[in-house]
Amino acid sequence: MESYVFECGEARVDKPKVVLGVSGGIAAYKACELLRRLTESGHDVRVVPTESALHFVGAATWSALSGHPVSTEVWSDVHEVPHVRIGQGADLVIVAPATADMLAKAAHGLADDLLTNTLLTARCPVVFAPAMHTEMWEHPATQENVATLRRRGALVVEPAVGRLTGVDTGKGRFPEPAELFDVVRRLLARGDRPAQDLAGRHVVVSAGGTREPLDPVRFLGNRSSGKQGYALARSAAARGARVTLLAANTALPDPAGVDIVPVGTAVQLREAVLKAAADADAVVMAAAVADFRPETYATGKIKKKDGEAPAPIALVRNPDILAEIAGDRPRAGQVVVGFAAETDDVLANGRAKLARKGCDLLVVNEVGERKTFGSEQNEAIVLGADGSETPVPYGPKEDLADTIWDLVVQRLV
Ligand SMILES: Cc1cc2nc3c(=O)[nH]c(=O)nc-3n(C[C@H](O)[C@H](O)[C@H](O)COP(=O)(O)O)c2cc1C
Repeated sequence: MESYVFECGEARVDKPKVVLGVSGGIAAYKACELLRRLTESGHDVRVVPTESALHFVGAATWSALSGHPVSTEVWSDVHEVPHVRIGQGADLVIVAPATADMLAKAAHGLADDLLTNTLLTARCPVVFAPAMHTEMWEHPATQENVATLRRRGALVVEPAVGRLTGVDTGKGRFPEPAELFDVVRRLLARGDRPAQDLAGRHVVVSAGGTREPLDPVRFLGNRSSGKQGYALARSAAARGARVTLLAANTALPDPAGVDIVPVGTAVQLREAVLKAAADADAVVMAAAVADFRPETYATGKIKKKDGEAPAPIALVRNPDILAEIAGDRPRAGQVVVGFAAETDDVLANGRAKLARKGCDLLVVNEVGERKTFGSEQNEAIVLGADGSETPVPYGPKEDLADTIWDLVVQRLV
């Protein structure tokens, strides 16, 4: 097998250096797409597969896609000491897929091939994306290894739930490569800031917009896409949190490593929030919740009748979830964040809402036909109950998400 010199001539030093460790799971082929995304977005990627990984995807593929030779063992180019240099020189290491075996080796500090040596010498953020059958994932040995790695500061992405190898379905599925790419990008963007400042925390995020059914085909809804809530979930997961995402009528790809609870109506969202918030360190209510719902639900489709005016729709108030959770926190010290979408007198209305709801932070943004809803961008002011005011200029929703978590982290006890 070919070997390589880590700092060889063609490596461009200005590119972030990512080590992509690949261990021997069936999902190894999906790591090819992650590799492509990383190289095409300007990362210098070294692929370090295990011997088992090469049963699934050959060295030629890794080499051609990364533009570098690959090796699995420590005995090539010994004068370059690659077992030390690769880890030392990396800005980020991601092991994807990470087998049960690799998690065990990493947790116990084994160093019997190039990847395990690299993991011991890396001082940069390290990410594991486990993929395996549900039984292997749930086994206490694997769970203890994951806990050990997390305690030491590694980001272990929760596997997704879905189709596994063969006919099996369950937890253990490799997350979408696009989602893992996003995790890598976010971690690298954090620079010197602590990468895992939400490690060991449970956060709850609501996203999307509730729908209040009128009849089996119609509902009262709103224009929220859920993108801001999903950005919050992704950001928190990349910072090490266990994330529960309460998704109200969204049509977005599942963020990697996030537990998703689909909800429909405001009443369902309330139930889900109260349940998930019981042990949460922070609750961020980014979903647009309907203030009212139809008083009655017609079990058959409401028909128009010739010559008759339509019957008026009587509405009743929905529960005020934000006020309820902020006023009676399910857990002491919990940080509660609300959102206020305002169309006019944005700041004054935001301040009044913050006082009324009793939350710690209120993210106030102006909405309109082309502003905020469905957009990739956002602009907001985050008001604190302590009188603070943090403006976040117009930019990607993920920037606002990062700022919100910065402010939450400052308030966590
Ligand atoms: C077809 C096949 C698929 C496998 N898929 C997985 C998997 O998805 N996850 C896993 O942990 N192990 C899986 N294994 C088992 C690993 O390949 C085995 O534990 C191996 O020793 C891992 O070596 P490595 O961690 O050095 O790559 C699979 C084995 C085979 C034969």
